[in-house]
Amino acid sequence: MHIIFETIEKYRVIPVIAIEDISLALPLADALLEGGLPLVEITFRTPAAAEVIQTLVEKRPELCVGAGTVLTPTNIHDAIHAGAKFGVAPGLNAETIDLAESLEWAFVPGVCTPSEIESALAMNFTILKFFPAGAMGGISMLKALSAPYSHTGIRFIPTGGISESNLAEYLATPTVLACGGTWIASKTDITEGNWEQIKKRCRKVAEIVAGLK
Ligand code: 3PG
Repeated sequence: MHIIFETIEKYRVIPVIAIEDISLALPLADALLEGGLPLVEITFRTPAAAEVIQTLVEKRPELCVGAGTVLTPTNIHDAIHAGAKFGVAPGLNAETIDLAESLEWAFVPGVCTPSEIESALAMNFTILKFFPAGAMGGISMLKALSAPYSHTGIRFIPTGGISESNLAEYLATPTVLACGGTWIASKTDITEGNWEQIKKRCRKVAEIVAGLK
């Protein structure tokens, strides 16, 4: 397992972020750090993504910064150039998988069917985003998908429809490495500067994770 996945497994939740305004990157990072969740996935859904990643990597080295919505080889090159330590994709795309592997970059492709899981396993990827988790049937689908594959060492990062109310149940599923989601810091929270709310949600995550042990 790539070393970065040990950090992800330690904190168990990846805040998924879409940020438009570079000036909000550091206040957001500080809210996450002060809330005790030093992990973030900056998605390539806004033109500011690469610059945000670079700023966070340079100015907040204690934050583990990854890239999300990695759809193309260009996204991978931009993410690595900006300093992203890991990448996450919504789907399974041979072109990006091959490139990530050849660059030895920690990469989590997305799956939601048995066939996609088998394609990922055939390419030696065992840490997979399960997306869109809620819409695909949530925990019951995840458990059903895990049954024939858990012996392979597969681990999932369910994302899509995760919130404080179902986080514990997802995290208690043995094949789940961590969960991703926007509920910790939504686009509106960021544009409105709801930093205290974001800190509170980070602390709640720590409480839920502690409660699992
Ligand atoms: C993702 O990008 O991974 C999902 O859109 C996040 O889904 P959520 O908004 O339901 O957390």
